[in-house]
Amino acid sequence: MESALTARDRVGVQDFVLLENYNSEAAFIENLRRRFKENLIYTYIGSVLVSVNPYKELEIYSKQQMERYRGVSFYEISPHIYAVSDNTYRAMRTERKDQCILISGESGAGKTEASKKILLYYAVTCPMNDHMAALGDRLLQSNPVLEAFGNAKTLRNDNSSRFGKYMDVQFDFRGAPVGGHILNYLLEKSRVVHQNHGERNFHIFYQLLEGGDEDLLNTLDLERNPQNYQYLVKGNCPRVSSISDKNNWKVVMKALPVIGFTEEEKLLNIIAGVLHLGNTQFGEGEEGETYITTETQITKLVKVRTVSLVLLNVQICTNIHKKALLRMISPLNFEQAISARDALAKAVYGRTFTWLVEKINQSLALKDEIYHSNKGSSVIGLLDIYGFEVLQHNSFEQFCINYCNEKLQQLFIELTLRSEQEEYETEGIAWETVQYFDNKIICDLIEEKHKGIISILDEECLRPGETCDVSFLEKLEDTLGGHPHFVTHKLANGKTRRVMSREEFRLLHYAGEVNYNVNGFLDKNNDLLNRNLKEVMCQSDNQILSRCFRREEVMDQKRPEMAATQFKNSLMKLMEILMSKEPSYVRCIKPNDAKQPGRFDEVLVRHQVKYLGLMENLRVRRAGFAYRRRFEAFLQRYKPLCPETWPNWHGRLVDGVSTLVNHLGYKPEEYKLGRSKIFIRFPKTLFTTEDALEAKKPEIALTLQTSWRGYRERAKYQRIRRTAFCMYTIPLVVYGSVFIRFIKGFIYRHEEYCPENEYFLDHVRYSFLKNLRKNLPKSVLDKSWPTPPPLVVEASEHLRTLHMRNMVVKYCRRVQPEWKKQMVQKVVASEIFKDQKDNYPQSVGRLFLDSRLGTCSYINVRPCAPQYGASVTKYDRRGFKPRPRQLLLTNTFAVLVDRTKIKQRIDYTALRGISVSSLSDGMFVLHMPSEDSKQKADAVLQCDHVIELVTKLAMMAGKIDYVNISPGSIRFTVARGKEGIIDFVRGSEMKVTKGKRGHLLVTVPRTNTT
Ligand SMILES: Nc1ncnc2c1ncn2[C@@H]1O[C@H](COP(=O)(O)OP(=O)(O)O)[C@@H](O)[C@H]1O
Ligand SMILES: [Mg+2]
Repeated sequence: MESALTARDRVGVQDFVLLENYNSEAAFIENLRRRFKENLIYTYIGSVLVSVNPYKELEIYSKQQMERYRGVSFYEISPHIYAVSDNTYRAMRTERKDQCILISGESGAGKTEASKKILLYYAVTCPMNDHMAALGDRLLQSNPVLEAFGNAKTLRNDNSSRFGKYMDVQFDFRGAPVGGHILNYLLEKSRVVHQNHGERNFHIFYQLLEGGDEDLLNTLDLERNPQNYQYLVKGNCPRVSSISDKNNWKVVMKALPVIGFTEEEKLLNIIAGVLHLGNTQFGEGEEGETYITTETQITKLVKVRTVSLVLLNVQICTNIHKKALLRMISPLNFEQAISARDALAKAVYGRTFTWLVEKINQSLALKDEIYHSNKGSSVIGLLDIYGFEVLQHNSFEQFCINYCNEKLQQLFIELTLRSEQEEYETEGIAWETVQYFDNKIICDLIEEKHKGIISILDEECLRPGETCDVSFLEKLEDTLGGHPHFVTHKLANGKTRRVMSREEFRLLHYAGEVNYNVNGFLDKNNDLLNRNLKEVMCQSDNQILSRCFRREEVMDQKRPEMAATQFKNSLMKLMEILMSKEPSYVRCIKPNDAKQPGRFDEVLVRHQVKYLGLMENLRVRRAGFAYRRRFEAFLQRYKPLCPETWPNWHGRLVDGVSTLVNHLGYKPEEYKLGRSKIFIRFPKTLFTTEDALEAKKPEIALTLQTSWRGYRERAKYQRIRRTAFCMYTIPLVVYGSVFIRFIKGFIYRHEEYCPENEYFLDHVRYSFLKNLRKNLPKSVLDKSWPTPPPLVVEASEHLRTLHMRNMVVKYCRRVQPEWKKQMVQKVVASEIFKDQKDNYPQSVGRLFLDSRLGTCSYINVRPCAPQYGASVTKYDRRGFKPRPRQLLLTNTFAVLVDRTKIKQRIDYTALRGISVSSLSDGMFVLHMPSEDSKQKADAVLQCDHVIELVTKLAMMAGKIDYVNISPGSIRFTVARGKEGIIDFVRGSEMKVTKGKRGHLLVTVPRTNTT
């Protein structure tokens, strides 16, 4: 991303988190619009990809483009669906965690196209052998087949998926695709029998009529004109300019064998059967009984071997009740007969579709041998599911679709918030809560047991007595009246009432309000296919149908689950699947309803931005910090801006970033350093840095140019040298004397350098040097060195010393000032204390700090500021009463402080010596000249960090040689001419007491913590 930040004014920001005004929806939409106008359809919100449908082919999906995104970090390159694909793939490989990409958006926003692009990316870029390539092919080819049977032209999308799809692609440990599996959700079966104006039935019907050859149509008893079929005329839109049914038919026919299909004939029989069924008409007899008026249709149905003639004729027009032992046959009325026919058509098509998906799954399934050798595999799931739908008339299907979107939104909120929170936790940064709308209340309203809409609907379907859609609505009103997200005409206030019909209920979804008409809810939920019709289907000659309609189902007295409950349960399973994976999001937006390129309808986009929850997503992302990047990436990009980090930083990454931002003058409130990332709060900070980098670029270019010239000259020189070497060696080879000279040289090898052995000895030297060059130690701690032949022992020793010095110099150059200071102090401590004082070894591994006073600040000491401070205990020279003090060291003197009061000042020039014991105690004495009346006498002190303190003091005072380490006792001056003594003895615990003869007795345990 950074690479194009400079172009941000022209095309907005590539990541919404960098929008200065991130709370403004207008700014958000303006950014989308500006980018869309430049054909930049992708923009990030952090790691979420927002995609706007361009409605035209863009040149951004080529193989070269795929290569550009391969293995490149998300942020290094402009946003793209390939970046998400690649990132997900790499996350799966490196973290060994299953991933999923959730693609959402309303119908026509580009979800299916996005999922196809992701699949194609994997098919092209993943490592593959022949078997895998065949699988990749099957994965890709399953698409046109599924689309033919599951997609249709709607008002919103000429190729609208009328089912939800979740696809798993399984990869082996090498990252090659080895298997796939598809789950399908709620096919919109009602489309088989009815289409709204301007819409079509599923593509396959038109493809068959348009693309099937004459023989095929004759066999199926079909005519080419779709207008002749009742199930194809409702939308009055048999042909669409953007769809080539003929070509698509060819594609599907080609794809079927690839996905292991051998039963096309049976499948097409079913499609034809549905069309014939739709043309079956009924008449009403004198007594209200129904009969089929189109006998020929039934004959056709039989011809295409869908059903048995007699049975169907009887069953479709009659209803058989079981009442006790009596089998009573009652005729269906006209409407009932039509609805039985339609129910049959829907069931046949719906079940065939499910069978088709299973068939595809068999062809994508991991073969046994791969399955068993594939324990280390991982999965990427792709969810392409219907987006939130608000039509003029919304029915049961829209209710289910929108419920699904509520669930996905909930998952989105949970997962994005959760992952955001987790990132803050792992990075050790305090989390700030964000206010967001939690749509759980709406999910509960729909799905809660006993009280939710689905439960009420089920109950109403099962309840004995007269039930109808209106009684369902009343039940809803009784149970849910007063719920803040539920309204009906009766419950509404005047204003809302005016825009609602009496048969509607309104849900206030997170994405907006939708009125659902209850007509058909009960039937669709019941999804009942007359048991007798099921029986007919069980007897079908068509093996696909007999597999779809099982005899056991007819025998089973248990009522199958209602449609909405089935859907709810399958959604629950889907949520479980998604929760177990690491999600990535693609949020698709449709720029206009006219499917036109270049048109950006702001109202439409604003609505989608709102219900996709993008503003909330952005707020969550921006709650803490606008920008975050791993230390290495940040340092790599901005290191030219700081002399200490340019051209290379050799210390710890966090120190490098810290040095860099300090140099750039970042204020503490502007950023935070986590464990592996820097978090920058405001976009402005980043932009300023980016501008500075831009300004610096000419200078960097100049440096690079100079280095390049140097490199070129060096390369030229090497070339010339090599040529000269060849000129020297070739004649030897040519004259064939090499071997003889070599042997001769070996014989004379112990002689002085002479013509006989010169070639051999040169060779020995040369070989050693060559070997040495390859095996030089890489670090100062590496003590290895190739054994030299006797001839070059001396030279080898010189080289060894030189190399070591060289490494040391290089090492020292890399050492940062802070670290250097630390090391110098440690070296001095070692010079003073090593093998002299018992607690020195414990101090070696601990860093020397600049203060031991915790968060306390130093008091003002004029004229110099303290460089070091530590808490000490001072013992009165007379009586040895202990008193807490602070010892502060400046560059020229030390002071002993009691809270804010300076009690004693010790000028370094006057310091006569520093005494410590050889044991592991913290006592030390600062000796002052007794004749100097300005200075007080010696100070007897104790400190827990005695090694550190004395080292620093000795260094600052320039009195390293003045430190005395006394094994048994220390003598000190109490006053002029009067001496005190501290005795040190070993004991079980640390104690400072008054000893004999007025001595101070310090008992020191063998081990001590300094
Ligand atoms: N990235 C894209 N590039 C070009 N055209 C696209 C792109 N995404 C979508 N479209 C166009 O929009 C139409 C609808 O997209 P589709 O993926 O079927 O929508 P959805 O699945 O969201 O309903 C496609 O048929 C195609 O014409
Ligand atoms: Mg789709």
